[in-house]
Amino acid sequence: MLTLDRVTKNYRTGTLGGGHFTAVDRVSFDARTGEVVSLIGESGSGKSTIGRMILGLTSVSDGTLTLDGKPVKAGKEYYRHVQGVFQDPFSCYNPVFKADRVFAQIRQAYYPQVPAKEWAERVERAVRDVRLDPGAVLGKYPHQLSGGQLQRLLIARALLLDLTFLVADEITSMLDASTRIDVLNLLADLKERGLGVLYITHDLSLGTYLAERTVVLRRGRIVERGDTQKVFGNPQHPYTRTLLASVPRLNLPWTAAESLETCAFHAAGGRGGDGGLQESEPGHFVACAQLPDCGRTPA
Ligand SMILES: Nc1ncnc2c1ncn2[C@@H]1O[C@H](COP(=O)(O)OP(=O)(O)O)[C@@H](O)[C@H]1O
Ligand SMILES: [Mg+2]
Repeated sequence: MLTLDRVTKNYRTGTLGGGHFTAVDRVSFDARTGEVVSLIGESGSGKSTIGRMILGLTSVSDGTLTLDGKPVKAGKEYYRHVQGVFQDPFSCYNPVFKADRVFAQIRQAYYPQVPAKEWAERVERAVRDVRLDPGAVLGKYPHQLSGGQLQRLLIARALLLDLTFLVADEITSMLDASTRIDVLNLLADLKERGLGVLYITHDLSLGTYLAERTVVLRRGRIVERGDTQKVFGNPQHPYTRTLLASVPRLNLPWTAAESLETCAFHAAGGRGGDGGLQESEPGHFVACAQLPDCGRTPA
């Protein structure tokens, strides 16, 4: 289990490094194996920063990040189990080399002792696991493959490791609609295989329905999280309601309206609870919407 406990990220601002900007503010949730957690929020809400902290690509300013109870220490051993896939698959390949070079890098780093023949078999299996035909994709240059194929090869690359968690950051946003569905089906397969997936998205795409649990982020803070059916079926926070009401348009990011109605939990007097969130029903947590600068997690 991957656990975030009041995880905070302050970026330095200004050339003299005097100021800072809190991009992620005391975010707490966990992600289990065999489950998809979707992290939803509009552009700039801090989703990628959370993904990058989990992947050790940027430091955690405050709070703790643990994998199976142990503090995360990014390094070779950690990356055996936790890997990321990002929005733009093209940027992960060197156009000069064949796309399968990404597999050779894994072999060099993790499995130098595996004989060539066995390695080739493992690669083929991983490629089939991502619903690609090895004959059609291996030995090709990146420009000869589609974005969806390149994206799936990166997932196959991750599968060559003893993967337990995959951070998928906007992986379908650059894909066309039909390829998008293929990649989402693949995530469903991975979940069936026991992997944990953090599915980061800026829109209420189909992917959100794959998720057992949903975390709604706004300006670096969680406004609502819990079982997907509860969060979407019975949204408590006005921001979540606005988000659900705004009709998602294909390929266009939505921006929820800024005006917020009052929230039921303020009237009930609740704050505190789980990381400042109120438990509205079992497995469903909401931030108070009526605090100054609503949507923030109370200290
Ligand atoms: N390296 C950085 N330095 C300073 N600010 C950053 C950096 N990366 C992201 N930010 C800021 O942090 C906020 C959250 O960014 P990000 O995590 O990329 O959001 P999202 O993925 O939800 O769009 C944004 O306001 C962004 O401008
Ligand atoms: Mg992002």
